[in-house]
Amino acid sequence: MQFFVDTADIAEIRDLAATGMVDGVTTNPSLILKSGRDIIEVTREICALVPGPVSAEVAATDAETMIAEGRALAAIAPNIAIKVPLTWDGLRACRTFADEGRMVNVTLCFSAAQALLAAKAGAAFISPFVGRLDDIGLDGMDLIADIRQIYDNYGFPTKILAASIRGVNHVRDAAKIGADVATVPPSVLRSLAHHPLTDKGLAQFVADWAKTGQKIDASKLGGGA
Ligand code: G3P
Repeated sequence: MQFFVDTADIAEIRDLAATGMVDGVTTNPSLILKSGRDIIEVTREICALVPGPVSAEVAATDAETMIAEGRALAAIAPNIAIKVPLTWDGLRACRTFADEGRMVNVTLCFSAAQALLAAKAGAAFISPFVGRLDDIGLDGMDLIADIRQIYDNYGFPTKILAASIRGVNHVRDAAKIGADVATVPPSVLRSLAHHPLTDKGLAQFVADWAKTGQKIDASKLGGGA
C-alpha cells in the first residue's frame, strides 16, 4: 500500500518525507486555506519535495473552467495529479485530462456507482471518503470493498485512494481490503508507529541498558578490518 500525506503543510511534508514513507501528497481547497499559502507556490514546493503524485484540486464547478484550471495546475510540475470533484462536469474534465495523458484524482466519492463512472472517465485515482461516511452512520470501509470488487471485476487500472482517513484502524482495514493508497493526515501517519507495548518495552530496555554501564562504541571493535 502506498501512503500519501493529506496536507499542504510544507514542514510536515518535509519531516515525514525523510522517513521514506511518503509516496505522494494530496491537497484540497480546505487544506490550502489551512496552510495560508498561495496554491501555485505551495504546490510547486510540495512537488519539489515529493517525486510521487501530488494532487492539486481545481476550484471551478463547470467543466470548461475546470479544464483551464487543471491545465494550469498540471504546468506546475510533471508529478501533478489534477483533482476534480465527482460531478458530471468533473467527469467530463477527467476524460479530457486523461485523453491528454494527464493524471486525474476524482474526489468526493461516496458511492460505488460514482467510482465506476470515474474509472470509465479514465481517472488515475478515485478518492472514496471513508471517515465522512462513518460520520453519517454508514460504513466507509464497505465502500472501499465494493469499489475493489468492481474494479477487479473489470480490470480497471484506476487506483483506489482511501481518503478521509481518521485513524490507524482505517489504514489497517483499507490495506486488508486492498486499497492501493491511503491518504492520511500527518498525525495519523505518525500514529501508525505507536503501540503502548512498544513504549513500555523500550522503556524497560533503556533502563536495563543504563544498568549495564556499557556503551556501543565503534572504537572498541579492534583492528581486524
Ligand atoms: O483529501 C480529502 C480528504 O482526505 C478529506 O478528509 O478528514 O476532511 O474528511 P476529511
